[in-house]
Amino acid sequence: MCGIIGIILSNPDAMASPELLDSTYYLQHRGQDAAGIVTCGSHGRFYQCKGNGMARDVFTPNKMSGLVGSMGIAHLRYPTAGSSSSSEAQPFYVNSPYGISMAHNGNLVNGTNLKKYLDEDVHRHINTDSDSELLLNIFAAELEQRGKIRVNTDDIFKALLGVFNRCVGGYACVGMLAGYGIFGFRDPHGVRPLVFGERVDPVSGKKDYMFASESVALQSSGFTQWRDILPGEAVIVPKDTMQPVFKQVIARKSYSPDIFEYVYFARPDSVLDGISVYRSRLAMGDMLAENIRQRFAQRQKSVKDMIDVVIPVPDTSRDAALKCAVNLGLPYREGFVKNRYIGRTFIMPNQKERKSSVRRKLNAMSTEFRDKNVLLIDDSIVRGTTSKEIVQMAQEAGAKAVYFASCAPAIRYNHIYGIDLADPKALVAFNRSDEEVAGLIGADEVIYQNLDDLIDCVKNCGENKVVEKFEVGVFTGDYITGVEEAYFAELEHLRAQEEFLNSDEDTACFNANGCC
Ligand SMILES: *[C@@H]1O[C@H](CO)[C@@H](O)[C@H](O)[C@H]1NC(C)=O
Ligand SMILES: *[C@@H]1O[C@H](CO)[C@@H](O)[C@H](O)[C@H]1NC(C)=O
Repeated sequence: MCGIIGIILSNPDAMASPELLDSTYYLQHRGQDAAGIVTCGSHGRFYQCKGNGMARDVFTPNKMSGLVGSMGIAHLRYPTAGSSSSSEAQPFYVNSPYGISMAHNGNLVNGTNLKKYLDEDVHRHINTDSDSELLLNIFAAELEQRGKIRVNTDDIFKALLGVFNRCVGGYACVGMLAGYGIFGFRDPHGVRPLVFGERVDPVSGKKDYMFASESVALQSSGFTQWRDILPGEAVIVPKDTMQPVFKQVIARKSYSPDIFEYVYFARPDSVLDGISVYRSRLAMGDMLAENIRQRFAQRQKSVKDMIDVVIPVPDTSRDAALKCAVNLGLPYREGFVKNRYIGRTFIMPNQKERKSSVRRKLNAMSTEFRDKNVLLIDDSIVRGTTSKEIVQMAQEAGAKAVYFASCAPAIRYNHIYGIDLADPKALVAFNRSDEEVAGLIGADEVIYQNLDDLIDCVKNCGENKVVEKFEVGVFTGDYITGVEEAYFAELEHLRAQEEFLNSDEDTACFNANGCC
């Protein structure tokens, strides 16, 4: 998963880069692996600053001062199989035709075909394993075929139709044509999010425009009028007219956002496809409470017989855990305190055996655990290593019984649209029953949200109910775009390569978000 941003200002003498920088801070949770900004100056020249690390490390004041121009795009990279070690940071750039820069969030599932096509049919060299480079080059090849000295919006839409027809997967993109303007588009299923908004410049009365992965980035920059880009839709904002042109480039195949955005990925204060992420998390907690109550009722037990206190695993699950506790009539306590300064600190070579990264991040308060039957609530259980450690910490702090509930159903399959969780064989629920998972993580019982419940409760939080269904392949193995078997073999190969390259590092399974 990644974060993308695009900004074009009505005042041609203004600088877009300070606001792009601000927005990267708001979307930092979407990717801490690498960051990049490309702007376009008045003479149609691109200026860029990219590098590995968080926005605050990459965008130093010195480097930012060179990013002139009233339009630009930005990217925050989340590592996915094949993209983290070998390739460069985004946005990517091609000089022909016209000079195009592009940044993307998501993943393609027919990359191998696309690479072959680019090589054999249109003779374009691909230098990385990044899907963004593929998307950019497919777009460039399509645009080139228009054979124009100068393009117009129609040429760009036609080129995007080519992109939609060729590129299979979940993707949301922002791009910029040198001297011309910016554009954004979203795959025909709407798997990855993209919002577009406007704001009125108080001095000139003219409008500025912005794209972002999440509404929080627009809101924070004062782009209060905004809407979601629809599946298969594209928007172009030419610099000379400053009038956005919308087009449904290809018929919508479905409207199926990735449900994992709501479970874990997005910020709670974002609204994606008409659904408040925060509200959806509250609903997940409510639904989980119903599930737990019924489960105990079947054993002729009341919730209070079984559980004394509800404790969240910080941070994402707090909202759901509080709602769940209220629904169950149980006390809610913050039993784990997070060390907010730990971040991605340097780990001494011999240090990792002594202390796991979970223990470096969280501390259990024995006053809240001692002699209690606790219900721990997390957003999801991926490899199970974090959950196991957390259960152990609860037990060491004196818990009598530990029930472990997950706001998401059991994760048993690949995530193939940009949140590369783990090889399925490394998932604790892979080919295992809930009882076996409980045994492995050391909990007395594991309680998963039912998939139908999860879908219902997120869907019902939608204001205008535009979403038809959700991408839930990570729970079912059924993917919205379909996928060929060969792709999984490819994925496995990329992961093995990555593991080999990273074998010296403390990559473990913990990304900076603590997703595990
Ligand atoms: C994937 O890419 C190739 C090459 O452009 C294209 O011909 C094909 O239709 C695409 N879709 C699938 C499902 O392979
Ligand atoms: C699933 O588990 C069973 C035994 O528990 C084993 O026989 C089988 O090979 C496993 N399947 C896979 C795909 O690992």
